Amino acid sequence: MHLEQKNFLTHVLNLKGSGDLFSVDEVQEPFCLVIANPPYVRTQIMGAQQAQQLAQSFGLTGRVDMYYPFLLGISQILEENGVAGVITSNRFMTTKSGQAVRRELLRRFRISHVWDFGDTKLFEAAVLPSVLLAHGVSGTRQPHKIEGINYSSIYETEAPECIDANDVIAALSVKNDTVVAISDGRHFRVRHGTLDNGGDVEAVWRIVIQSTDKWLATVDVNTWGTFRRIGKIRVGVKSTTDKVFIRSDLNDFPDGRPKLLRPLITRRFARCFKACVPSKANHIKEILYPHEVTENGRGEVDLSMCPKAGHQAGTAEPYFAHLLDR
Ligand SMILES: C[S@@+](CC[C@H](N)C(=O)[O-])C[C@H]1O[C@@H](n2cnc3c(N)ncnc32)[C@H](O)[C@@H]1O
Repeated sequence: MHLEQKNFLTHVLNLKGSGDLFSVDEVQEPFCLVIANPPYVRTQIMGAQQAQQLAQSFGLTGRVDMYYPFLLGISQILEENGVAGVITSNRFMTTKSGQAVRRELLRRFRISHVWDFGDTKLFEAAVLPSVLLAHGVSGTRQPHKIEGINYSSIYETEAPECIDANDVIAALSVKNDTVVAISDGRHFRVRHGTLDNGGDVEAVWRIVIQSTDKWLATVDVNTWGTFRRIGKIRVGVKSTTDKVFIRSDLNDFPDGRPKLLRPLITRRFARCFKACVPSKANHIKEILYPHEVTENGRGEVDLSMCPKAGHQAGTAEPYFAHLLDR
């Protein structure tokens, strides 16, 4: 047996053909088996600079967790048809920041099974774990084909048990949609199905089981329309300085209406399903909303581009100072 202690990420970046500008062209005999439990370290913990460096080196975007580059690095050292079993956090399957890693996993591996260990607290860590079992491929593959990827999940339930098992791992061998009681008294619902992403390589991963598919088809057949068809979908806002941001006199501003105004439904005319029209003019409010959603996510609007709105928002500062004093 040959053991080597090394920084895996640097090792991968140094490999010949890694595409990294500074690679020192090390050669690596591909592995036929990889078993890994890479570190989970979120961007907030490792710091924006390191996260950015990692993202750049591994062709990732957005908020990078440390296990993302590990997953991609493993694809570079795994031989064709070699097997990798990796335990990570399950967050990448459903978060926005997991988009790039979901796409790359489907391109760089042939995944055969995904297990979502949900809230089983399989081991003492704050994360909810998942396990991937995947085969190496040569080069990259067209990621749109995701048929045949098995997906199992196990989540706690209060439903009465149908069967007993010693522990969480043993519980996974039961049939689809079975409630299992394990020896510490907790109950879990086990599901076995296949992975679905609706045909979009970056979309979230979800489990499809025949019974859900049937249920969804029934809902579909009996659906007249979605909420969007009935009315606009609104977001709720919490403002700390209503007097500045929420007003009914924004048309009367001496310099003219600021930009970034949005209509607002307040408690006075919010009703079930549809708001009523307020009879008093001063009850019709608008909100100055200096946030926007772009392809890079939600962020603050550059107020130097909207001076009137910027000026109005600036008048909130004394309120904040007052709050800080307290
Ligand atoms: C989640 S722990 C897993 C530990 C052990 N393999 C296990 O399964 O119990 C992740 C491990 O990866 C190590 N690690 C962190 N960054 C690494 C890197 N760049 N290269 C190699 N190992 C690293 C950490 O020191 C830590 O021991």
